[in-house]
Amino acid sequence: MVFLKGRAFRACVCSIIAAAVGLSLMLPVFFAETSLSEKILGDWLMWSKPSGSTEDHSRSLNGVVGRDLNSGDGCQLKVFMYDFPQKFNLGMLKQSQVDQDLPWPDDEIPTRWPGRTGLKKQHSVEFWMMVDLMDSRLGKRGDRKVIRVRDPEEADLFFVPFFSSLCFNKYGTLMKVPISEKDKLLQEEIVKLLMESPYWKRSGGEDHIVPVHHPNAFRHSRHLLNASIFIVSDFGRNPPEMSSLKKDVVAPYTHVIPTYENDDSADPFNSRKLLLFFQGRIKRKDDGIVRTKLANIIQNQTGVHFEEGGATEDGLKQATEGMRNSKFCLHPAGDTPSSCRLFDAIVSHCVPVIISDKIELPFEDELDYTGFALFYSVEESLQPGWLLSQLSNISQVQWLKMWRRLKQVSHHFEYQFPSKRDDAVNMIWKQLQRKVPTIKLKIHRKQRLKIADWWSW
Ligand SMILES: *[C@@H]1O[C@H](CO)[C@@H](O)[C@H](O)[C@H]1NC(C)=O
Ligand SMILES: *[C@@H]1O[C@H](CO)[C@@H](O)[C@H](O)[C@H]1NC(C)=O
Ligand SMILES: *[C@@H]1O[C@H](CO)[C@@H](O)[C@H](O)[C@H]1NC(C)=O
Repeated sequence: MVFLKGRAFRACVCSIIAAAVGLSLMLPVFFAETSLSEKILGDWLMWSKPSGSTEDHSRSLNGVVGRDLNSGDGCQLKVFMYDFPQKFNLGMLKQSQVDQDLPWPDDEIPTRWPGRTGLKKQHSVEFWMMVDLMDSRLGKRGDRKVIRVRDPEEADLFFVPFFSSLCFNKYGTLMKVPISEKDKLLQEEIVKLLMESPYWKRSGGEDHIVPVHHPNAFRHSRHLLNASIFIVSDFGRNPPEMSSLKKDVVAPYTHVIPTYENDDSADPFNSRKLLLFFQGRIKRKDDGIVRTKLANIIQNQTGVHFEEGGATEDGLKQATEGMRNSKFCLHPAGDTPSSCRLFDAIVSHCVPVIISDKIELPFEDELDYTGFALFYSVEESLQPGWLLSQLSNISQVQWLKMWRRLKQVSHHFEYQFPSKRDDAVNMIWKQLQRKVPTIKLKIHRKQRLKIADWWSW
């Protein structure tokens, strides 16, 4: 445990190294102090001790500072969440219209996504971020990357609690009929609220987090917020001036197929009978044309399941079994470069075969996807016979290596309540935290410049 903390410490040395060195002069005092001080002290001792004595050291350290070395990280991202009416967020998940103009009460944290809205769950990152923030006020836990602050002056970043993906899915999908007006109106209202905020004005939105995970989320007004940090699934429909890896965070879809919990067959390579699995809609527009072309090449080949299938209950059941019974799971581009299917494959430990030239992937500054997924260009994959010969040629040893890696990384793609160390939501907070120094530099500088933008970024 102490060893782990040491690693965590090194990851954010910059923020607390000065404090730790300062504290070294007051060791005895801090043994009796709060959990945060214990943490800093623990890390400092870990960092400064001579190597080779981890065991003894951790025992004595545990003996002295007691139970909760894990509490209070010292490296947490401080986020202020606006108190917007619940009709913009959690209120959309309830049937009743009561209290929709009031903020959601802080002491009623929903702990799970409501069952009846299964498909909408794919884009529920907005929900998981909000409930994690609500929860974080209850106390510090070492695994948690975020802390909610009540005073905006203390905040590193501002969270905009607008469920723009759910708003589209609930009101906007039919695009034309009157009810879809509601999607547009809510977008306009939230933009107005933001523009009135002194904190938005100060930064032009650069330190604001806006989830827009569904490709059509916030579609009427997102250009007005293009300075802020978007939480996206990919850059599918955004122009390059609106979205970038520098500014935004790519977040996983919430998988809809259940995680393969006890995947410990003695011989997983041979017990997965199918070579390649795909189930989904075959006729798609834009880059999704690749699906129809692939179907013509590989459908009905031995070892391949390539079937039309929707996200019905039966379809999901079949896909769950199919993915668990296959060595490789195909992820061709659809209407947009990414889809939930990739994350379903990951939690099924079915090696993803990604044929989507414009895909963006979550957490790529920490994860090397080539260790557990295969990437082929659309052009390559459409040569007759090519794809299946590539896959058949992958040895058992190579495959097992990727399968093991999948089992190691799969927890990064779980959204849950309460959040756990390095799960999806905490990985997202971590990504956001890494953007903070640049954002602060920009904002602080902007406030004192007399001639704006005299030098470019
Ligand atoms: C970004 O926002 C600014 C300010 O609202 C707007 O003028 C500009 O057109 C937007 N750019 C894009 C690509 O949406
Ligand atoms: C695969 O078999 C099904 C059922 O026999 C058929 O409808 C489909 O057209 C076949 N696909 C190809 C590409 O031959
Ligand atoms: C199959 O794999 C071997 C060893 O990895 C490699 O040398 C060979 O070129 C591959 N064949 C094809 C058809 O890709």
